[in-house]
Amino acid sequence: MKNTKELYEYYYSLLSGVDERINKLYSKEKEEHFHRRLEENGFSRRDFLKWASFMTAAMMLPPVFESRIAKAAAIKERTPVIWLHLAECTGCTESFLRTRAPDIATLIFDEISLTYHDTLMMASGKRVEEHLEKAIERYSGRYICVIEGAIPTKDGGIYLRVGPDGETGYHRAKRVTEHAKYVLAFGTCASFGGVQAAHPNPTGAKGVRKALGIEVVNVPGCPPNSVNMVGTMLHILLFDRTPPTDLLYRPLWAYGSRIHDYCERRAHFDAGEFVEEWGDEGAKKGWCLYKMGCKGPLTYNDCSRYRFNQGINWPVGAGHGCIGCSEPGFWDTMAPFEEPNDKAGIRIPGGKGVEATADEIGTFVAGATAAAIAIHATGSIIRGSTGKSSKKEKE
Ligand code: SF4
Ligand code: F3S
Repeated sequence: MKNTKELYEYYYSLLSGVDERINKLYSKEKEEHFHRRLEENGFSRRDFLKWASFMTAAMMLPPVFESRIAKAAAIKERTPVIWLHLAECTGCTESFLRTRAPDIATLIFDEISLTYHDTLMMASGKRVEEHLEKAIERYSGRYICVIEGAIPTKDGGIYLRVGPDGETGYHRAKRVTEHAKYVLAFGTCASFGGVQAAHPNPTGAKGVRKALGIEVVNVPGCPPNSVNMVGTMLHILLFDRTPPTDLLYRPLWAYGSRIHDYCERRAHFDAGEFVEEWGDEGAKKGWCLYKMGCKGPLTYNDCSRYRFNQGINWPVGAGHGCIGCSEPGFWDTMAPFEEPNDKAGIRIPGGKGVEATADEIGTFVAGATAAAIAIHATGSIIRGSTGKSSKKEKE
């Protein structure tokens, strides 16, 4: 990934624009309202400032942005978000918004955005359609369109129909993204097709970028971490542009390192201490899950840093290996999930020596994941986009 110095220089060059933007939109009244909401949900101002400082570091922003992140919650105008559900299980929304108690990230999200959400709306049928139409018209050219789920494209997209008029998912996505300023693909299905696109992919399901040929920021994961989504939203809110990404269009700050690089079991990997069988002594001692199929060395995501459910736990912490859910085509390329990928060229201690570097892995792994990792190891897109282009991209 690009070095921190280069990223910091990039962000310093945007600082004055951010200040101008925040000052124009700041509202004292909104700030007080937001802090009352925090208190009602059991968070103090101190908790909030700690969160702002955490997000600044997580998003790889220079520390001067801490106060700006905190101020973003006090912006008087909501950033309109239209959130569509296509071919998926709704697990991403469940994971993001239906926590037992809302965390600061979800409260912020609620305050700064969300105009239309297929799943959370009270209305149904024709009334939903009317509401969607109004939202598109009212916020045309300004809203963020979040898409959860893949887009079936075979036979004119007939394998996914939505709403009372039986509109195809493909048509709906096209119609809504056409007037959006930014498009975010939330989850692996929307980013790369997910399980719908797994072999033999009978419905021709694709990720949003590939199906519609438009610019999209991918926030993959099955489900993605709420930190990744809120951080991406905050980035757009503060800078009015998308964050720097890798060549798979995933924000670098969230997907710039491997699960393996920050895993709490990593010391056991390096020491050659592996779980050899479910429930054995190694499993009880929390040893490395590589031999039980963990794909952490092949997967770019930040689960090992931020965990899920208010930081309580994550897959590897709960005792199962990472299955590589934020990589394209993982249902095919990472399976079988409980066996190591022999083709990946990972050298384990006790084998041929120290494990391979990310770049070396990229030259070894077979299939789509290999291409993804090789791409990741060699490039990134530092300058974010300031809006969606409708230009058809070559896929
Ligand atoms: Fe953690 Fe998996 Fe890497 Fe082992 S192989 S250190 S369990 S990420
Ligand atoms: Fe997915 Fe691996 Fe994280 S399975 S949720 S990328 S630990």
